Amino acid sequence: MSVLNLSGVEVRYGRLTAVRDVSFSMRDGETLFITGPNGAGKSSLLRAIAGVTPVAGGTVDFDGYPITGRTPEAIARLGFSMVPEGREVFGSLTIEENLLVGTGMRTREPGAKARSAAELEAVYDTFPILKERRHSQAGLLSGGQQQMLVIGRALMTGPKLVAIDEPSLGLAPNITDQVYERLLGLQRQRGLTLLVVEQSSTRAAMVGGRMLLMRGGRILLDGDARELGQGEAIQAAYFGYEDH
Ligand SMILES: Nc1ncnc2c1ncn2[C@@H]1O[C@H](COP(=O)(O)OP(=O)(O)O)[C@@H](O)[C@H]1O
Ligand SMILES: [Mg+2]
Repeated sequence: MSVLNLSGVEVRYGRLTAVRDVSFSMRDGETLFITGPNGAGKSSLLRAIAGVTPVAGGTVDFDGYPITGRTPEAIARLGFSMVPEGREVFGSLTIEENLLVGTGMRTREPGAKARSAAELEAVYDTFPILKERRHSQAGLLSGGQQQMLVIGRALMTGPKLVAIDEPSLGLAPNITDQVYERLLGLQRQRGLTLLVVEQSSTRAAMVGGRMLLMRGGRILLDGDARELGQGEAIQAAYFGYEDH
């Protein structure tokens, strides 16, 4: 069953069209990378799906519901969790406080406290370093640990799909390896659907799954990440060589 379905999605900032006619579907439990050079429209697309940036044209369906034009909160409640670019943590709060921050909206629901405690344990199982340092200030964490924290925070609502914008930005490759190892583990254990933006297709080719390549707001390639990552088509698409 398709969990996410985009049809002809457009994003505009005034006269600039950042995303043009983007259509794709994601299957339940799939890993999909969106790659492409800086300015391709990757973040704009992710923000539009999450409801943070307006969808100027086309439609988005999530888990069978039309979500075009809905608020980010409403989309999140359906099980879509986004980790924006930049790893923003509340630096003066502890790790545990950072993890619990997003669960505030459920505290009036019956059983919410117990659910939050269970989610917290699940996040700590996935990222033991967060448990070890749970009373430390988040601002003192390394970049890799902060990335784990923001992913952990996105998991606290028990989402179906997690969308992550450039998790490897500024991280050493071995730290990025660790982050992906945990993400793939979660996917296997929970059947999580993963939508990941990465500028470079190299990481997508290493991790595997499906890959879309965007440039100039459009999808130029769609295929198996490992196969595409080794071919020449990707170089041409990425750098914009034209066939004559
Ligand atoms: N908030 C914004 N206001 C105006 N233009 C924007 C905004 N965000 C992005 N853009 C422009 O939209 C285009 C796509 O940007 P972006 O989605 O950030 O691409 P990517 O994430 O692939 O680097 C770029 O030309 C960028 O300058
Ligand atoms: Mg971006």
